[in-house]
Amino acid sequence: MTATPSRTFPSDFLFGAATAAFQIEGAAFEDGRRASVWDTFCRVPGAVINADNGDVACDHYHRYADDVALMKRMGLQTYRFSTSWARVRPDGGVVNAKGLDFYERLVDELLEADVLPWLTLYHWDLPQALQDEGGWTVRSTADKFTEYALTMHDALGDRVKVWTTLNEPWCASFLSYTAGLHAPGHYSMREGLLASHHLLLGHGQTVRELRARDESLDLGITLNFTVADPADPDNPDDVDAARRLDGQHNRWFLDPVFRGQYPADIVEDFRATDSAATEAFEAAVLPGDLDVIATPIDALGVNYYHGDAVSAAEPANPPEAGHAPTDRPGASPFPAGSGYPVERGLGRTAMHWEIQPHGLTRLLERVWNEYAQPAGTALYVTENGAAFDDVVTEIDGETRVPDAGRTDFLRSHLGAVLDAAEAGVDVRGYFYWSMLDNFEWAWGYEKRFGIVRVDYDTQERVLKDSGREYSRIIASRTIDV
Ligand code: NOJ
Repeated sequence: MTATPSRTFPSDFLFGAATAAFQIEGAAFEDGRRASVWDTFCRVPGAVINADNGDVACDHYHRYADDVALMKRMGLQTYRFSTSWARVRPDGGVVNAKGLDFYERLVDELLEADVLPWLTLYHWDLPQALQDEGGWTVRSTADKFTEYALTMHDALGDRVKVWTTLNEPWCASFLSYTAGLHAPGHYSMREGLLASHHLLLGHGQTVRELRARDESLDLGITLNFTVADPADPDNPDDVDAARRLDGQHNRWFLDPVFRGQYPADIVEDFRATDSAATEAFEAAVLPGDLDVIATPIDALGVNYYHGDAVSAAEPANPPEAGHAPTDRPGASPFPAGSGYPVERGLGRTAMHWEIQPHGLTRLLERVWNEYAQPAGTALYVTENGAAFDDVVTEIDGETRVPDAGRTDFLRSHLGAVLDAAEAGVDVRGYFYWSMLDNFEWAWGYEKRFGIVRVDYDTQERVLKDSGREYSRIIASRTIDV
């Protein structure tokens, strides 16, 4: 057997890991922070498994210095985190200096450790006070978002150069306002559509304002993608189901950001499903909005976890649902008409998500060729990772987590990124999700994505074997897959 030759990453390729404020910080009501929509949703019976909440989470608010020290020991070059709107402008309005202080301390600690701060402004924790005024279904929330972004820039603009406006607006709109699975847990097509537009508007406005203040900033947005395949490529109904899934997940956000238009076929699909909701959406798109949304960006964040094969007809043996089995009635992340997921024999993670590294190569190539390259925008994989049921064990007197599944996932997906880079895609970095085990939304603390194990009783951190392997890869800048 011949040994697989090592493959080397470009010298300027960035290796990092990611988290989000609500999922790790805890200190939910400390130093002036007020409730976000997720604090409220966690208290809705049946919304989150085990009725878990973000009150303590990984206690990162108090342990950030140790966590940054661990990043440094691992050799991470960059750390993607989000700031909590509910900490900084707790009711959406007045600034809370103590909340801002936390992010100043965190950023200073990162810079001191030589870890590049990659700041995301919105990772789903909308102040509850703004939800009480309509949340993302009303236009004023986009303006308030831009005000909050400028507050962050006033405080950190001298030290933070990379700014992502939104994380996964598909989740913050359709999964939250239409599918009912995420906060605020509503079931309205109209609300999901309005939320998607106002989120994108907030993104575009914020890019414009930040750019006007400082041309040197690296500005962007992070979208979540699926790679949608028809279960039977010869069956036109399956092909159409895949078109819809791709359109509603991917193109609904890519097209306005890069082309200044919503995809016409998907608008018509929405109209066929709910004409009143579609009319309300069309009325909310004011002249000029799409120009604002299409303001050029420097970086597109690509979040990739899995693909989906879909059939138009309900399969006899459907795979287990890839979303939390909560008590929420009628919840499904598959929009009307976008088909049913089918089993195609790929391995799956503990989330029941397919493991398909090549899907990441396909996705990067497609997004690069069709959207990013024509616009001169660089790509970064801002999230990729896997949940597995880890086992903690003692090896030679040392506490270890031998997470071979996650280690394989990491290596194979890094290989997939290199495949895309070698095919000419300008992909400049990779962030593993997540640095730490954390609050996995409707799944609570049940699913662990970290390369660092968190013991939620003691808050002890243990670097998993996948984290050791990642450190080795970062140090050598090579993999052998
Ligand atoms: C995407 C989200 O941005 C993140 O918050 C979540 O934990 C991961 N996916 C895993 O589901």
